[in-house]
Amino acid sequence: MKVLVTGGTGFIGSHTVVELYKAGHEAVIVDNLSNSKLEVLSRLEKLVGQKIKFYQLDVCDKEKLEVAFKENKIDAVIHFAGLKAVGESVRKPLEYYRNNIDSTLTLLEVMKENGVNNIIFSSSATVYGTTICGPKGFKETDKTGGTTNPYGTTKLFIEQILTDATVANKDLNVVLLRYFNPIGAHESGLLGEDPNGIPNNLMPYVSQVAIKKLPLLHVFGDDYDTKDGTGVRDYIHVIDLAIGHVLALKKFKEHFGVAVYNLGRGQGVSVLELVHAFEDANNIKIPFEISPRRPGDIATCFANVDKAKEELGFVATHSISDACRDSWNFQKNNPDGIK
Ligand code: NAD
Ligand code: UFG
Repeated sequence: MKVLVTGGTGFIGSHTVVELYKAGHEAVIVDNLSNSKLEVLSRLEKLVGQKIKFYQLDVCDKEKLEVAFKENKIDAVIHFAGLKAVGESVRKPLEYYRNNIDSTLTLLEVMKENGVNNIIFSSSATVYGTTICGPKGFKETDKTGGTTNPYGTTKLFIEQILTDATVANKDLNVVLLRYFNPIGAHESGLLGEDPNGIPNNLMPYVSQVAIKKLPLLHVFGDDYDTKDGTGVRDYIHVIDLAIGHVLALKKFKEHFGVAVYNLGRGQGVSVLELVHAFEDANNIKIPFEISPRRPGDIATCFANVDKAKEELGFVATHSISDACRDSWNFQKNNPDGIK
């Protein structure tokens, strides 16, 4: 298939492009480089061994986006493009609503005008809001809503917009993939998570402590009702996540309307467990201190992945240790990020 990948030079998008080529697909990348570098494109071309069509444009810019559709016979779209920093979204809600929602609306309009009816959307476990995660993890049928920040609310709204669009357009197929916590990097050390400034997320923060850019990790709370009192999440290697998208493309062989899948490992891992796994995998000590809880955090969030396994054949094969090794390898190879 020829797949238009919005946000294709970003963290998850770039790894997915590699897996698309591995599976025999072709990618057309669209990205405004607001949170990624052009260098990623050269690295991707090196990894896949061929030129990749790239359009530097904002997905909200309809005229420019139309060109990318007109110049390529697109079979399906994977829509990664979006702003994703939870804290920043609280400070800049309008920017988040404008960028994330406007880009999706524009994309849907241009898809319709060009007869493209297949889209995979990057949603998030954040749509489960304050719903309590049961002992078997979040199921796709669990209640969504009650999101605690504008970023999360954009995901919730976009899920609804895409669902409504399938009611009106009977040809449209939408796969909503709810990611849990992507970590890790490409084993080559060429691709990985490259945050601007001080990282918000645990794994990039740990990696920067490991390389001594940051003095120590603040563990946000040790008094949650969890195995060791620290927050529990479902960390998944970004390559497993990328493969999930390739599997989801197979659904487009027939019409189904909307389908939603959790993508995680299906296993809860605490902050301290992740820190110790990183130390063991890389033989590096991570200094940390216990700090107050971070506002908006929940105790436990992990996926029930039965549906993705049954319907997509999705199974995460990388361990937490693999992900810790690959994250550190990327950090070592790119101490100051991707230039
Ligand atoms: P990322 O920031 O690395 O990648 C997003 C890419 O989209 C960037 O390259 C950025 O330049 C581009 N972009 C943003 N707005 C754009 C626009 N209007 N037009 C064109 N390009 C635009 O983020 P990521 O971690 O790869 O996440 C990809 C998607 O997955 C996002 O939608 C994110 O919300 C979602 N997601 C991420 C996580 C996570 O923890 N990383 C978890 C759940 C969901
Ligand atoms: N944590 C720390 N110290 C840090 C950073 C994080 O102790 O410096 C803890 C958090 O309190 C939490 C865990 O590590 O318990 C994971 O935190 P992350 O910020 O890495 O991830 P979150 O689960 O909070 O959020 C992530 C994405 C969101 C997405 C959400 C659900 O960043 O975009 O998963 O998918 F919405």
